[in-house]
Amino acid sequence: MDRTFLMVKPDGVQRGLIGRIVSRLEDKGFKMVAGKLVQMTEDQAKRHYAEHEGKPFFDELVGFITSGPVFAMVWEGDDIVALARIVIGKTNVKEAAPGTIRGDFASHTPHNLIHGADSPESATREAANFFSSEELVTYDKSIAAWL
Ligand code: GTP
Ligand code: MG
Repeated sequence: MDRTFLMVKPDGVQRGLIGRIVSRLEDKGFKMVAGKLVQMTEDQAKRHYAEHEGKPFFDELVGFITSGPVFAMVWEGDDIVALARIVIGKTNVKEAAPGTIRGDFASHTPHNLIHGADSPESATREAANFFSSEELVTYDKSIAAWL
């Protein structure tokens, strides 16, 4: 079983989309193992987006992600890192297909509602920026055999 780090960005929280985004991830058969509302600090945001440091949009990115609370989550499922990014949709809203979270709800690229880790290594590193290992809850769902 694999895990990924996902986060409803401040635009998603402000637009009241936490519930609908979580529903789509549940609908796909993924299992939430941690979730909380967080007002990120600037240092925490820079750690989260370390891979983008030096890019022209880095300061804007840090400013946006700290502009209001985010809903940080860890989810579990087979191949979930890649599958969650398919459910999320492409970064650029002009390329995000209908049926994806971004395709259905986002209309301006930087405000693309949800972050998804891009590799298992990133997922582990990003989750540690928000959660202690005790906060990741291990439990079974009886539906698992039917997925
Ligand atoms: P995340 O799941 O948020 O990491 O998105 P991603 O993996 O689909 O994209 P990427 O990691 O390449 O970029 C991270 C975030 O930076 C994107 O979600 C956008 O919000 C923002 N971003 C990416 N490229 C640009 C850009 O060229 N200009 C601006 N303003 N923002 C960008
Ligand atoms: Mg990314």
